[in-house]
Amino acid sequence: MAVSSCPCLKLFVASSFECRSDSSSGTDQPSQGRFNSARHGTTPFLSGTGMSSLILKFPPNFVRQLSTKARRNCSNIGVAQIVAASWSNNSASGAPSAAAAAAAAAAAASAIPAADPADVLAGNEYKSFLSSDGSIAVHAGERLGRGIVTDAITTPVVNTSAYFFKKTQELIDFKEKRHASYEYGRYGNPTTQVLEDKISELEGAESTLILASGMCASTVLLLALVPAGGHLVTTTDCYRKTRIFMETFLPKMGITVTVIDPADVKALESALEINKVSLFFTESPTNPYMRCVDIELVSELCHRKGALVCIDGTFATPLNQKALALGADLILHSATKFIGGHNDVLGGCISGSTKLISEIRNLHHVLGGTLNPNAAYLIIRGMKTLHLRVQQQNSTALRMAKILEEHPKVCIL
Ligand SMILES: Cc1ncc(COP(=O)(O)O)c(C=O)c1O
Repeated sequence: MAVSSCPCLKLFVASSFECRSDSSSGTDQPSQGRFNSARHGTTPFLSGTGMSSLILKFPPNFVRQLSTKARRNCSNIGVAQIVAASWSNNSASGAPSAAAAAAAAAAAASAIPAADPADVLAGNEYKSFLSSDGSIAVHAGERLGRGIVTDAITTPVVNTSAYFFKKTQELIDFKEKRHASYEYGRYGNPTTQVLEDKISELEGAESTLILASGMCASTVLLLALVPAGGHLVTTTDCYRKTRIFMETFLPKMGITVTVIDPADVKALESALEINKVSLFFTESPTNPYMRCVDIELVSELCHRKGALVCIDGTFATPLNQKALALGADLILHSATKFIGGHNDVLGGCISGSTKLISEIRNLHHVLGGTLNPNAAYLIIRGMKTLHLRVQQQNSTALRMAKILEEHPKVCIL
């Protein structure tokens, strides 16, 4: 039975797409644990769950070359392939060449710290493997964390508008919150959720909401968090359409706006003094002049007066700036830019506490600016190279800045 309405629940289901059970582990079960984590409202990474079912064939001495953890680790599929290829090229000897095996073992050892059985037992195996932003951008949310279990390395695109319940009781259990499930495409999708979990990991956020565009993200956020008749502070340097929404549409709900210079802390303090400010919304760095806000300082000032802080960090990416760690309540990105990275997809995301994101999510479910699962897949795909692109962009920008600084025809005003 497919169901198409329920305004209240956002529970996400475990596997309904199991490809192959793993008789050796006996744990390749629907990932119910996914729904129980305090951090995300989900448990994104399932230690040991069905992991060995994800590893394909190993040559005979591969097992001896790598630690248990390394063998199980998805990144070692590549290592396994190198060894397997060398093994099959060398089939006369029936074993991988010593050099290839040693190289594979070294690669595995440098890629992944040695297995700590306590980690495995404590369920930290996958998390400890996500030790850098690069690893997080590539792996977080996927394979071991996603609700769908298949043998595919890539996250499947689930093109569906609604979801099955196997029997009426299952639906009743879902409605009464005893059974976790997706329900309807506007309320959640397994592909999209992988992307949300990935961005949460990068931002260090409890929860992330992904929407159809960056503008969709900022407009829904503003509508959800600033009450009718409320007051908002923003900055002079700001993406034009965001300003247009604030100055043209929000006044229809009696919402007023103070616009300050991004560096003018005094103006912020006075706006906070004079008005009952609900939210300070600013880009950092700003579009187009790349001005940065002291996130720590403005968060402290706003919090003292009970105002929330949202940073549009599109130009920084989640790699160059961790706005939540600096004290902001919410971080927003136009995923259309660096996160997607290939000019082939639009998207927007907001990360923060489960409480705030749920408030925004509730309105999003009504307004319906849902990201298509195909677009979610493209963003996930784009994020595989996010850390490499950002590194390159950073070094190119630095080189350009140095060249311009030294250029005789360029002066600092
Ligand atoms: C800083 C910033 N925020 C938000 C947006 C809006 O994002 P989107 O184009 O994905 O709607 C843009 C677009 O250029 C932007 O530069």
